Amino acid sequence: MTAPDRPARPKVVVTRELTDGVMHRMRELFDATLNREDRALSRSELDAAVADTDVLVPTITDRIDADLLAKASPRLKLIANFGVGVDHIDLHAARERKILVTNTPGVLTEDTADMTMALILSVPRRLGEGEKLIRAGQWDGWKPSGMLGHRVNGKTLGIIGMGRIGRAIARRANGFGIRVIYHNRHRLPEGVEAELGARFADLDTLFGQSDIVSVNCPHTPETHHLVNAHRLSQMRPDAYFVNTARGDIVDENALIEALEQGRIAGAGLDVYVGEPAVDPRLLKLSNTVLLPHMGSATYEGRAAMGEKVIANIRAWTDGHRPPDQVLEGWD
Ligand code: DGY
Repeated sequence: MTAPDRPARPKVVVTRELTDGVMHRMRELFDATLNREDRALSRSELDAAVADTDVLVPTITDRIDADLLAKASPRLKLIANFGVGVDHIDLHAARERKILVTNTPGVLTEDTADMTMALILSVPRRLGEGEKLIRAGQWDGWKPSGMLGHRVNGKTLGIIGMGRIGRAIARRANGFGIRVIYHNRHRLPEGVEAELGARFADLDTLFGQSDIVSVNCPHTPETHHLVNAHRLSQMRPDAYFVNTARGDIVDENALIEALEQGRIAGAGLDVYVGEPAVDPRLLKLSNTVLLPHMGSATYEGRAAMGEKVIANIRAWTDGHRPPDQVLEGWD
C-alpha cells in the first residue's frame, strides 16, 4: 500500500546503465528514466535530473554534493545509491534537505572479500609480474630462483575495518593459515573475535606487526588519509599493503614514495584517488598489482545490488523506513 504523501509510481532517475533485469524491473515498478548509454551523466544532466525527480539512483561515479542538492526539486526525497560506499554523497546536505539516503550493504560482501583475498595472494606471490612475463614472451623456463615471492601461510594479516567485508576476509584468511589482527572503531564482542580467529590491535601494533595490511573501512572524514606517511613508516620493509575500500583512505603520495623507496614490499590496489585516473608512478612499479575498482563486479552482485535499490525505493513509497537507510556511513 502506498503512503498518502508518497507517489504510487515515483519518478526515479537512474544515472548509470544497470543490468537488463534490474532496468526491466525499474521500468515495471516506477516511472523510471534510465541511462541507456554506458557513461556517467554530465554535471548539467545531473542538475536536470535532480530538478525533476522523486528518487535519484546514483553510483560512485556521480558527485552528489551540496551544490547539486541545492538545485534539487523539493520532491526529491530519496537518494537510493547503487553501491555500499556513500562518500560521493554529501550526507549532511542531504539530511538538511530531509532527503533520505540508502545504500546496498551485504550483497557485495563476499565478492569484495574474494577480490581482497586475490590481492593478498597476488602481491606476495607476484602473480601480476608472472602473468606479464608470459605475455611478453620472456619466460625462459622453470628455475629454482624463478619468480620467488613470499609465503602467506603463517603470516599476519592486519585488517583495518572489521565490518561485513573485513569479517568475510578474516574467515577466508583462516582457511589459508593466516593469523588475523584487526582494528575497528568499536572492538568486536569476544565471541565474534573467537569465531573469526581475530585479535584486536591498536593501529601502532597493527601496522608494526602485520605482514599484510588490508584496508576495509569506509571513507569518512575520520578515515581520510588514515594510512599516511607515519603509518606506512611503521610497516616493515617486507610487508605488503592492500586496499579494496577507497583510495582516499590512503595518502597516495606517501604510499607511492614508500613503494618507490622499498620501505614496504608491495601493494595490491583496486581503488585510487581521483579514479579513473591512476597515478603514472604506480604503473611503473613492478611490486604493485593494480585492478580497476572491480571488487564487487560480479553479475550476481550487480543483480542483487539492483534488487536492494528497488527494495529501498518500494519501502519508501509504501511509507516505511527503507531497510538500508544510511545514517553515518558504514559501520
Ligand atoms: C561500492 O559499492 O561501494 C563499490 O565500491 C562500488 O561503488
